[in-house]
Amino acid sequence: MSPTQRPRVNRQFALKTRPVGLPKESDFELVEAPIAELKDGEVLVRAAYLSVDPYMRGRISGMKSYAAPVEIGQTMVGGGVAQVIESKNAAFAPGDFVDIYMGWQEYAISNGKNLRKLDPSVPVSTALGVLGMTGLTAYFGLLDVCDPKPGETVVVSGAAGAVGSIVGQIAKIKGCRTVGIAGGDDKIEWITTECGYDAAFNYKTTADYAAKLKELCPNGIDCYFDNVGGPLTDAVFTALNVHSRISICGQISQYNNTKPEMGPRLFGALIVYRAKVQGFLVSDYMSRAAEAIQEMSAWVREGKLKYREDIVEGFENMPKAFIGLFHGENIGKRIVKI
Ligand SMILES: NC(=O)c1ccc[n+]([C@@H]2O[C@H](COP(=O)([O-])OP(=O)(O)OC[C@H]3O[C@@H](n4cnc5c(N)ncnc54)[C@H](OP(=O)(O)O)[C@@H]3O)[C@@H](O)[C@H]2O)c1
Repeated sequence: MSPTQRPRVNRQFALKTRPVGLPKESDFELVEAPIAELKDGEVLVRAAYLSVDPYMRGRISGMKSYAAPVEIGQTMVGGGVAQVIESKNAAFAPGDFVDIYMGWQEYAISNGKNLRKLDPSVPVSTALGVLGMTGLTAYFGLLDVCDPKPGETVVVSGAAGAVGSIVGQIAKIKGCRTVGIAGGDDKIEWITTECGYDAAFNYKTTADYAAKLKELCPNGIDCYFDNVGGPLTDAVFTALNVHSRISICGQISQYNNTKPEMGPRLFGALIVYRAKVQGFLVSDYMSRAAEAIQEMSAWVREGKLKYREDIVEGFENMPKAFIGLFHGENIGKRIVKI
């Protein structure tokens, strides 16, 4: 379809049932809706790439969190990169690519607020990954929360994912020694050869995480960037250095639990090592996003920051692509190409 051809029907994925445990494809329903005529100031966009992200599990759980849950029957939320196909807003012309929080649907109408026009000389899909939400998460979660110093050891869980693969590279740019944890030999291979991790291990084939961390971090751990939580994080607590910093980015190992997991209670280690643990949300840093994207764009251009996209084809595969995150299917940023 050309950018000027007007579609009649919008396909959307609505939440059908709240998942219990691991989400299922049947928790989502493909529905069709009409596309309204534009009012002055509005634009109609067609999705080019839609993002699937672990945080969406929290949005469909119905539990109190930092954002309102998706209600049953409501279109799933999420970020996208879309092309303007009709415009009654002078700031946007048909053909422009924009970054838009449009949800799981093929078309969206926007009043132009919160739309970011994208530079077409850079692959536009990067606005969902390295130069978008997950890249910013890596940047601020590492630099602002952990404040790593040259020569320090930085350990990253979820190290081959969208956030973790970028965290390790930023830590290297800052002169740190990096150790990654991921769930596959192919992932370990990629992060050590392409992302510059100095050492890494596959937690799915390692019996004693604490012993492995001691072996790979002979000088102890100064910074820990936590994407997964659970037993891996318990093991990190046993190898901390004095005045270490822990950035709690995500706890994906716990997202599908139906009741809280009981683990070792190691907060005493924080006293012994005078360690700091801090959770953060990337959305709190949006006023500084432009500055971070500028710096990371330069790193990408200079070849200092590599990224990988895990592209799933087809709008109808949104639920499957999302659920696959919890099986560790992706290397790098998982994106659905529409
Ligand atoms: N705080 C914030 O503002 C913020 C923003 C963005 C993301 N996050 C969080 O950051 C984390 C990473 O997000 P992402 O977008 O970069 O996702 P991602 O790492 O690209 O994808 C998810 C990965 O999590 C791992 N995983 C899945 N189930 C697991 C389990 N039970 N135990 C251990 N690892 C598991 C899998 O890798 P393996 O094969 O290695 O297991 C999978 O590939 C998530 O926890 C997410 O919620 C937080």
